[in-house]
Formats: sequence, structure tokens, C-alpha cells
Amino acid sequence: MTQIQPLSQPVAMPGEVAVFSPEVEAEIDRHLAKYPVTRSAILPLMFIVQRERGYLDPPGVSYLANRLSLRITDIWEVATFYSMINTKPVGKYHIQVCKTLSCKLLGANKITEHCANKLGIKPGETTADGKFSLSEVECLGSCGTAPMFQINFDYHENLTTGKVDQILDSLP
Ligand code: FES
Repeated sequence: MTQIQPLSQPVAMPGEVAVFSPEVEAEIDRHLAKYPVTRSAILPLMFIVQRERGYLDPPGVSYLANRLSLRITDIWEVATFYSMINTKPVGKYHIQVCKTLSCKLLGANKITEHCANKLGIKPGETTADGKFSLSEVECLGSCGTAPMFQINFDYHENLTTGKVDQILDSLP
């Protein structure tokens, strides 16, 4: 088995570092205990930090670097690779329209454009009231029911503009 060696660089922790409740710290400890190589816990820990802070903010990144004995850049490298990790605040409802092949061929552009026009924002933006954010993401693994989008943790499939209206109008 190949062992990934810990990085030799010192961990830089500029500025504020996120602080969590004892319950959240215990949850993080449980995840860390599962992995013989500490850095392998990066994604579960990242999801916890995001859940607690709304997005992966700089204090959250510093916290992760500290807990995982990694560099700040190691945390950002992972955070910016996965579209499910938000590195800036998102609205109450985060609409993520799949833009990959099946969805693209079956009208993803029209779905994105319809959402953008309806909400008055472009992909990458959040409505002024903080209710909706709109993003375009790579394949969400639901190609057989394209076009589709994900809102927070829910999938909505076989979309039409009418169905999009129905879904968005029903959100409180
Ligand atoms: S191409 Fe859209 S879910 Fe796979």
C-alpha cells in the first residue's frame, strides 16, 4: 500500500480561524478517526464546515488547514475543484443546472436562460433578497432524465420551462 506522506511545509494560519461547538468538534473527531491518513478526511470535514458556516469561508479554510495539518492552498485546491463546495455565500436555494452533454443536447441552455431571466441574475450570482443562487455545473449523474438541475440536495429532472416555473414558484 502506498502511504501518502504528510506535507513538510508549515501550516499557515493567517487571520481568523473558525470555532465550532463541542458537538461539531466531536462529529469532526469521529470522521478523523475513520481515516489512517488524516488528509483523507478533507471532504467530510469540508462539508461540515460548509454546513455550519453556510459556505467555505477563509476562517473555515484556516480551521481545516489546522485540523488536517495541511497548507491553506491544499484546502483551496480541493474546495475549488468540487462544485458542491461553495467558496462564496449562496442563497437559501442554490440552483445548479447541469451543463454537460446529455443535458446540453436536451436544452440545458434554455433552462439556465429561463432561470436567469426569471430571477434576474446570471450564473454565479445570487438574488438581492438572498433567496436564489444560480450556477452551471458538470454532470450530476442523472443523464437519463436530462435536462435536470439540483436545488440544494434535491434533484429535479426532465425539466421544461413550465416545470421550472412550477418548482421555483413553489419554494417558500
Ligand atoms: S449530463 Fe446532465 S446529468 Fe449527466
